Amino acid sequence: MKNNLGVIGLATMGANLAQNLADHNFRVAIYNRTGARTEELIKTYGKDRGLVPFYNLKDFIASLEKPRVVLLMVQAGAGTDAVLEEVCGLLQKGDIVIDGGNSFFKDTIRREAAAREKGLNFVGMGVSGGEEGARRGPAIMPGGSLAAWEKIKPIFSQIAAKDFKNDCCINLIGANGAGHFVKMVHNAIEYVDMQLIAEIYWMMKLGLRLKNEQMAEIFAKWNKDKLNSYLIEITGKILKTKDKKGKYVLDYILDSAGNKGTGKWTSLESLDLGVPSFSISAAVFARYISAFKKERIKISGYYKKNWIKTRLSAKQLEKALYAAKILAYAQGYELIYLASKKYNWNINLKELSRIWQGGCIIRAKFLDNLYRIFKETPNLENILLSKYFRAEISKNIKDLREVAAQAIKNSLPAPAILSCLTYFDSIASKNLPANLLQAQRDFFGAHTFQKKVDGEFFHYQWE
Ligand code: 6PG
Repeated sequence: MKNNLGVIGLATMGANLAQNLADHNFRVAIYNRTGARTEELIKTYGKDRGLVPFYNLKDFIASLEKPRVVLLMVQAGAGTDAVLEEVCGLLQKGDIVIDGGNSFFKDTIRREAAAREKGLNFVGMGVSGGEEGARRGPAIMPGGSLAAWEKIKPIFSQIAAKDFKNDCCINLIGANGAGHFVKMVHNAIEYVDMQLIAEIYWMMKLGLRLKNEQMAEIFAKWNKDKLNSYLIEITGKILKTKDKKGKYVLDYILDSAGNKGTGKWTSLESLDLGVPSFSISAAVFARYISAFKKERIKISGYYKKNWIKTRLSAKQLEKALYAAKILAYAQGYELIYLASKKYNWNINLKELSRIWQGGCIIRAKFLDNLYRIFKETPNLENILLSKYFRAEISKNIKDLREVAAQAIKNSLPAPAILSCLTYFDSIASKNLPANLLQAQRDFFGAHTFQKKVDGEFFHYQWE
């Protein structure tokens, strides 16, 4: 009996996706560079339950029904290229290779073109939801040809998470790199969401002097309302988690954050595309500066901070966080909207807002509002133009300003909060002082400026 598809790479994500597929009655050939890992997986999952182990790539490929579907779950970068070369050498015209890792979308564009030359279908597939999502139901964002999508749809729809209406959190995002692009921006939005929550936690802890249990209660309460989301939910759980000795785990974690680069890629891409994603870069830099622990210790020794107890209420923090979240998504969605135009992906933002409702790390009630907005106005260039968010912003922006002001007065670093506000105050300004920048550029470099009246470019003889 032939296997329905094959999974290469059995680290956590690959192993969990393979098991999820087998749970859904697919016969899944599995292969890993080191055979011990394959054996281990068979041991944990159980023999003859749908996972079929292989220790040789040739036999693995030969075991698959045609057209063959091979899912690569290997480390992004050079590792993917190496495995891909080997695998493509064994495949035939019409076969489908899926890269389910967090690959850089420009690599995906290149790989898709190379595979197409050989008559193969290449799908760059964003998968979100961490370990648990991969095992029980992730959000899936495939990018590739319609023909390839139609072949893999019946397989991957079965293992995807469910949206608010119980439909599958998967759909074709667009051609070549579109799936990996939106996964990359998903991660960048995740960075901002997380950073905003962290800054609000810090305001609660240092400004309001709340205890972990009190904060946990507040987050649990917020999770029942507009801020309802996976990240708010786990924050509440994290805050109250104690180890066996009764100590709060959060309190002994070093304040130095890591990253695997998707936030950096998004920042670089927004710089390339000329899109002002202030908060995405701010969230990346916030992680970078946290890792300067030694330098922070030295410098902080010279600059004493006096914490003033703020008069903010939990309600104000909730409203501020909600306003900032809207502004973070405004930036992320604007980036996707403009990239989709540049790369001719025709990304459906309504569908994306639906796919992100389940399984993924940024899943939230909030995404239903986005879904409804894009259902009504599919080509909206900025969510701040929608009637719904116009009303939401006007109800909450005052609190965001107050929280931002309190953070500044109390020397509490709040890069994500402040950058969201900066984004709003800039994008909602009919006029900006950029006329002066243009004048200065023209003064020292004869760069010319555009006149307001007729848009004509002009150089003025300043001196
Ligand atoms: C997901 C996550 C996952 C991971 C990112 C970010 O959607 O399942 O986004 O992909 O959390 O790689 O990781 P870093 O925080 O290490 O950059």
